[in-house]
Amino acid sequence: MESHELEALEAVTTRPVHPYRTLTVDRLTPVLGAEISGVDLSEELGAEQLEEIHTAFRDHHVIVFRDQKITAEDHKRFAATFGELRLTNPPPPEGDPHVLEIRTSPAASYVAGDGWHADGTADAEPSLGSMLYITEIPEPGCGGDTLFANMHLAYEMLSPAMRSLLDPLTAVHDGALALAGYTPPEDYVIPKSEHPLIARHPETDRKLLYVNSVYTSRIPQLSEQESRAVLDMLFAMVARRPLLHCRVRWAPNTLVFWDNRCVQHHASYDYYPYTRYGQRVAVNGGPVKG
Ligand code: SIN
Repeated sequence: MESHELEALEAVTTRPVHPYRTLTVDRLTPVLGAEISGVDLSEELGAEQLEEIHTAFRDHHVIVFRDQKITAEDHKRFAATFGELRLTNPPPPEGDPHVLEIRTSPAASYVAGDGWHADGTADAEPSLGSMLYITEIPEPGCGGDTLFANMHLAYEMLSPAMRSLLDPLTAVHDGALALAGYTPPEDYVIPKSEHPLIARHPETDRKLLYVNSVYTSRIPQLSEQESRAVLDMLFAMVARRPLLHCRVRWAPNTLVFWDNRCVQHHASYDYYPYTRYGQRVAVNGGPVKG
C-alpha cells in the first residue's frame, strides 16, 4: 500500500470510539458499519437512546438492527427521526407512497440496486438515507447480501495530486442511465443533476467522493475521453477495494439504515432461483454541499 493510503486508513481506524449508555454498538469493519443491539424499534424510543442511535449513524454511516418485529408505521416513525420522509419516484401503483417494496421473484433476470450507487443522486436534492427492512431472505446460506463502501475513505485514499485534480470538478448524474431496460410510467420525468464531484458531508463537513457507476455520466470540465477514463478509474476503485467496504448478511427482520450522502451500496444478486422481500423507506436530503 502507498504511504498516503496507509495514512488515510490509519486516521479512520484509530478515531476515538464513543461511549454508549443505552445500547451496544459493534463495528462491522474498522472503517464502516455497526450492528446496534438493545433497541426495540416497535416502540417509540426515548430521547437519550435516539440521540445515541443518531451518533452511531454519524460515526459508522451504516447501522444494522437485528430481530426487529415492526409494522410499516414503526418503520416510518423511526425513519422520520432523521428527517422528512421521501416519496418514492415513480410512485407505487398502489399502497403507501413512502414505502418502496424490494422484491425478487424466483428466477428474476434483474434486481433493484445490483450495481454500486447511492440512492437518488440524479435528483437535485438526493436522498439523505435509506432504511431497508428485510423480512424474507433466500434459503439460509444462499446469498442476497448487501455491500457498502465508504466514500470518505475512497476520497482520502486518493493521492494528493488526484485529490487536487478532482476537488474543483463537478459531475452529471443522469437517471436515464439507471433505467437499465425498465420502462417508467409515461408521466415520469427522468431526473438529471450536476453535483460537486468532491462533496462535503453536511453534518461533519468531511470531504467525500461523490460519483457512482449507476448514475454518473460525465465530468463536464473534461473531454469525453478524459471524463470516461477518470470515472472508470473511480468506479473501479470503489468496486475493487474491499478495504473500503462492509457487508450486511441479512436474516429475516433485519433493518439497515445507510447514509446515501457518504456511502454507496450494491445489492448482490447471487441467489437465483430464490426470492427475497423487504420494504424501504427513505429520508429527504438537501442540495449536495461542495
Ligand atoms: C437498494 O436500495 O439499492 C436495494 C438494496 C438491497 O436490496 O439490498
